[in-house]
Amino acid sequence: MTMAASEAVLRALSGGLPHTCCSDPCNNNWKSLLFFKSRVNCRNNGGSLYQKSKNCSRMLWKYTWINACQGEDVACYVETQRAKRLESMRFKCQRADSVSGVTANENLPPISRPVNTVGVTVNGNVASAATVREKSHKAHEGSVEEEAWDLLRASVVYYCGNPIGTIAANDPSDTSILNYDQVFIRDFIPSGIAFLLKGEYDIVRNFILYTLQLQSWEKTMDCHSPGQGLMPASFKVRTVPLDGDDSATEDILDPDFGEAAIGRVAPVDSGLWWIILLRAYGKCSGDLSVQERVDVQTGIKMILKLCLADGFDMFPTLLVTDGSCMIDRRMGIHGHPLEIQALFYSALLCAREMLAPEDGSADLIRALNNRLVALSFHIREYYWIDMKKINEIYRYKTEEYSYDAVNKFNIYPDQIPSWLVDFMPNRGGYLIGNLQPAHMDFRFFSLGNLWSIISSLATVDQSHAILDLIEAKWADLVTEMPFKICYPSLEGQEWRIITGSDPKNTPWSYHNGGSWPTLLWQLTVACIKMNRPKIAERAVKLAERRISRDKWPEYYDTKKARFIGKQARLFQTWSIAGYLVAKILLDNPSAARILVNEEDSELLNTLSDMINANPRRKRGRVGFKQPFIV
Ligand code: GLC
Repeated sequence: MTMAASEAVLRALSGGLPHTCCSDPCNNNWKSLLFFKSRVNCRNNGGSLYQKSKNCSRMLWKYTWINACQGEDVACYVETQRAKRLESMRFKCQRADSVSGVTANENLPPISRPVNTVGVTVNGNVASAATVREKSHKAHEGSVEEEAWDLLRASVVYYCGNPIGTIAANDPSDTSILNYDQVFIRDFIPSGIAFLLKGEYDIVRNFILYTLQLQSWEKTMDCHSPGQGLMPASFKVRTVPLDGDDSATEDILDPDFGEAAIGRVAPVDSGLWWIILLRAYGKCSGDLSVQERVDVQTGIKMILKLCLADGFDMFPTLLVTDGSCMIDRRMGIHGHPLEIQALFYSALLCAREMLAPEDGSADLIRALNNRLVALSFHIREYYWIDMKKINEIYRYKTEEYSYDAVNKFNIYPDQIPSWLVDFMPNRGGYLIGNLQPAHMDFRFFSLGNLWSIISSLATVDQSHAILDLIEAKWADLVTEMPFKICYPSLEGQEWRIITGSDPKNTPWSYHNGGSWPTLLWQLTVACIKMNRPKIAERAVKLAERRISRDKWPEYYDTKKARFIGKQARLFQTWSIAGYLVAKILLDNPSAARILVNEEDSELLNTLSDMINANPRRKRGRVGFKQPFIV
């Protein structure tokens, strides 16, 4: 191909940064072509850490040319052009506050390390972790809470001298750490909340601002680039020798958007969690300057645009691939899983609170309001089940072709699983895991239900009913260690087909009905919101009996949660942080307001008008006052 032809192809392919295509990315040097890095050339060659951080004169986007293009390969040529463009994208940054070149409010307190952490950064982690662990074992009789704080602090990751997140697990016995040495966005949320509640805001602010920088990273997998606005699932701080200087090192942020993750799963929940944490940071610290920054406002809008983009869907729920959230591998949760919908709803409400009113965002806010109304109606109406609803489904007529069908999604009553008949208490109910045409996933997914309470996606009555069910089914959902990630597990042929015979997700293990202590914090917030903290207290007491002795496992196995998970990491940070957040909130319940979304009365009115207008019968314009116009 001639260079002129290549130019034409490039023009056709690009529009901003190109979505390129190549024949076989694995065989044509594609992968080794370029490494894009966001670098801080932070010299780690002596001096105090604070001094080192001051010496960091530069955050720059940098690319390293590894292999030159051979011949006239189009993909290669396209990449060359892109690399040239990116070469000019250099940003200077000294502190998180000025990341992305936006000057921060000068009144912000300087970034500092937590006072009681010591140690030298090794691959972004703190070398003193082992010492803390040893100490904490000896002091086993001492307070579990104190031990948890020590361990949480030992998991802090530093970037150029500044605390920036916590690693997923700090397990010394682990021979295969996989990516558990990374900072996961979702895992950091309970850590961040614990630090906020303790009055240590810097780490959260840094996390928010540095992960924001990763949002606009060039991301590709096998020639495909996902939508702008995606937040990574995790990132790692790498400490590497500084180019051309043997005596110095530099810290590099290295994100994973799913392109290296097991199963290459898309981290849909990351951006949603990021927005939720940003609001919590503002509410807890009183520092609204972070959410008001231009780059942060842009970041919020990019996430919203990605989530609100038009697709083929007929439903207001967010359509996602399998493994796009806490359950990050194949578990039959592709489509419209509840967890993503609850986080989506919560993030929309949080974003609405934080978006600066300006002409440019009017359309976005309108779309957001419309989505909130439609989403809450859809979930409350179609995901909800209790004894009465199951009985309705049991008597459904099928194959109804009409605008006013009762069985809108054509659910065959035979789908009602036998376990559900025993599981559903007379008093109580819950939101099902997923709804698709001709398919209801009746499994109980804990995080989705708990976050539906916290975000007010569920009505007040539904929220109480979910807690009623948790109390009634304590022996199934909590048993010896809180809290089952989902109930029940998939077994036999179903397990083979749905998980793809995943040996990690065997019945009652890991994501397939395993018990995850980290869920304690979400349970606690939900219980506090509904003024029923005793339920959470009971669960925390149960966890306290063995969680420290068991070395803070990631998850427990078996139906009764009796064993530490067969492949569970020990000293799993979000197990530690989840416990801490639960403890702090139970001591000071009003602090839970930083996470809770109260029911919006305008939304409520619109919704009740919609329900009164009986959408089962009416099509098109329904007779209700609609304050939000598409
Ligand atoms: C597991 C969990 C995921 C978590 C990660 C790191 O893959 O399923 O939710 O973020 O471990 O702890």
